[in-house]
Amino acid sequence: MKLLVTGGAGFIGSHFIRFWLRRHPSDEVVNVDQLGYAGSLERLTDVESHSGYRFVRGDICDSDAVHTLMQGVDGVIHFAAQTHVDRSITDASPFLRTNVEGTGVLLRQAHAQAVRRFIHVSTDEVYGPVLDGAVDERAALSPRSPYAASKAAGDMLAQSFFHTYGLGVIVVRPTNIFGPGQLPEKLIPLCLTHAYEGRPIPIYGDGLQRRAWLFVDDLCDALERIMEQGSAGSIYNVASPQERTNLETVRRILQLVDRSTDLIQFVMDRPGHDRRYAMDDRALCLLGWQAKTSFEEGLSSTVKWYWQHAEWWRPIVQALRENPYHWLNRPFGSGSVQTSGAVV
Ligand code: TYD
Repeated sequence: MKLLVTGGAGFIGSHFIRFWLRRHPSDEVVNVDQLGYAGSLERLTDVESHSGYRFVRGDICDSDAVHTLMQGVDGVIHFAAQTHVDRSITDASPFLRTNVEGTGVLLRQAHAQAVRRFIHVSTDEVYGPVLDGAVDERAALSPRSPYAASKAAGDMLAQSFFHTYGLGVIVVRPTNIFGPGQLPEKLIPLCLTHAYEGRPIPIYGDGLQRRAWLFVDDLCDALERIMEQGSAGSIYNVASPQERTNLETVRRILQLVDRSTDLIQFVMDRPGHDRRYAMDDRALCLLGWQAKTSFEEGLSSTVKWYWQHAEWWRPIVQALRENPYHWLNRPFGSGSVQTSGAVV
């Protein structure tokens, strides 16, 4: 089987490539990544020498490049995306370009070349906040951030290619993922790298927003099952029962690395901040999937990894610090932003 992985130099994409080549050593995997600010080939040094692996630097919005890459491909797994909510608040345009236009280019080329399977990796954020219970795949989409809205657009575009052209599209909506190699702009690695350097850890608003965390290997496992057993036109939530408030998560990390909770600093809330995400993943469990890694196990291996790989994240953290989010510069408490408006 020949797979085209988009965004394979990113956090989840790189774990997926490693996972897939370990489980399917005779497959061919082509990784297309533009190596933007979040892409790093250092995540893949251990698979570079694999005979089935090939890296191509390219932009998914480039139709000609995608046309060439799609030749002879059996399946596409589309991770390439702008993913950070805080950045989308500062500037939505890269999100529209990559997450909507780029997804459209891939879908058109996959259709033109009759690719058998197209896995579109979406997000739970397309549902918007879920204050009680959990939503299944039939719930209406209600994205609140420019990031979530751009992913919802890509998600719906992907579904339209199934309904209109019969392209073998499957949409996957994962919960919050964590693990080694995640960019330190996301909560868990940001907390770890700040703790390591003794810097304050910014908690947005009251820190009581809830997230359900899943270790990255468990998502790779889910994606493999969906690739092999999922039915075209379906949507699969990938959920986690491991729900924590952000404060609980940060406090636990500080405890694990033996740092004081004095590092916690409450800052201006993220505009439009979703209080909670929660999904029902019975459809995926029917394929025999079950998460294997507890939050504690995943967290302890993640902590260990960041403690041992400061040479990887230090320059990244430095670069990220040079471009702070403008909305965070407002003094704490001055915002008129509503943090918990009506929820559909
Ligand atoms: P994040 O990792 O950005 O993922 P998402 O927004 O996709 O859920 O953030 C996780 C939660 O942590 C979210 O509620 C925002 C919050 N957060 C902070 O409180 N401080 C931070 O510095 C960051 C990056 C996130």
